[in-house]
Amino acid sequence: MSDTTVSQSAVETLDIRSSSPVSGTNAALGEEVAVHLHPQGIPLFITPVSRRLKTDIAAFKAWLVDHEEAIDKLLLRFGAVRLRGFPVKGPEQFGHVMSHYPVAAMGYKGGGGPRAEIAGRVMESTRTEKDRFIPLHHEMCYQRQWPLKLAFYSNIVASSGGATTIGDIRRFEAKIPQRILDEVRKRGVLYRRNFRDGRVPTEGWSGQLLNIHRPWQEAFFTEDKADVEAACEAGGLEWQWLDDGSLQTEIRKSGFVTHPVLGTSHWFNQISNLTALPTSARQWYTLTPEDERNGGRYPNAVLFGDGGTIPAEDVKLLRQIEDEIRVDEPWEAGEIFILDNILCTHGRTPFEGKRDTLIQFLGSGSND
Ligand SMILES: [Fe+2]
Repeated sequence: MSDTTVSQSAVETLDIRSSSPVSGTNAALGEEVAVHLHPQGIPLFITPVSRRLKTDIAAFKAWLVDHEEAIDKLLLRFGAVRLRGFPVKGPEQFGHVMSHYPVAAMGYKGGGGPRAEIAGRVMESTRTEKDRFIPLHHEMCYQRQWPLKLAFYSNIVASSGGATTIGDIRRFEAKIPQRILDEVRKRGVLYRRNFRDGRVPTEGWSGQLLNIHRPWQEAFFTEDKADVEAACEAGGLEWQWLDDGSLQTEIRKSGFVTHPVLGTSHWFNQISNLTALPTSARQWYTLTPEDERNGGRYPNAVLFGDGGTIPAEDVKLLRQIEDEIRVDEPWEAGEIFILDNILCTHGRTPFEGKRDTLIQFLGSGSND
């Protein structure tokens, strides 16, 4: 096993009857559900008690619509709510039961990971190889617009591993050294990305680099450079076409965001996830000497906003803190997992067997 993977033995899902009930929640959610908190603090589990909500998809949809506001309030408090044991079967039903939530304006144009659209607003969660650990991150926070909330759905559960791992941003921030917070606040963050030309031969490239270094044709869902340029303009990206046909984009962000409802300021960047550290452990991808043949054009690089390098030791420290706060609760088939994209980061543990997890973006936010 390489140093980029995390071993995870087959684990039983949590028996939520043994976890803590949460005061003050059932009044808002009604008598047909039970509410329990994960022993590690998040997520909050909501499970059906009535036979109707266990078996009738129309009844569940109606319940979800009636309790949208109550669930929103729980998301502000906990950041992560899991709906376990409801009768949701397949991507179409997942799309249907969440259809009352606002759509995200930007779709996944220009997104970083390999993924495909499935049905309507329902997308694959990721195609990143199964032995890769996807570190905790805020979805698309490197874009001008990003989803306010995420809803995941487990269609097929891996035989082992494959948790959608999460992290409470407020616990994470409490552990970051003040000097790192201050430095990022002062200098901001620059995301530089390279999208290869899908028509250029890639013999000799490693599978993982091919997977993570996406062609611009795939990332922007078009073959037409003019469409790509329009999407970059709309997304606030500076762009240039390089001599190998690849596209380089840059965007500067503050690295923080003000929560639109709470008004609180939070760490909101992908420094720990996307910084190019070829030899570091727990890296999303690890460049090999063969990969350097693409001219060292990293699929993703994160720098300080002034172009300065972010110290590797600090990135490693951020990853250590993420490991301390991560919650890797395995999926049960049919579960829906709603996250506040500011208050809760997410990633994925490596897995074995077949795994099918889908995602919808709910609503959109924007910041500098
Ligand atoms: Fe993600």
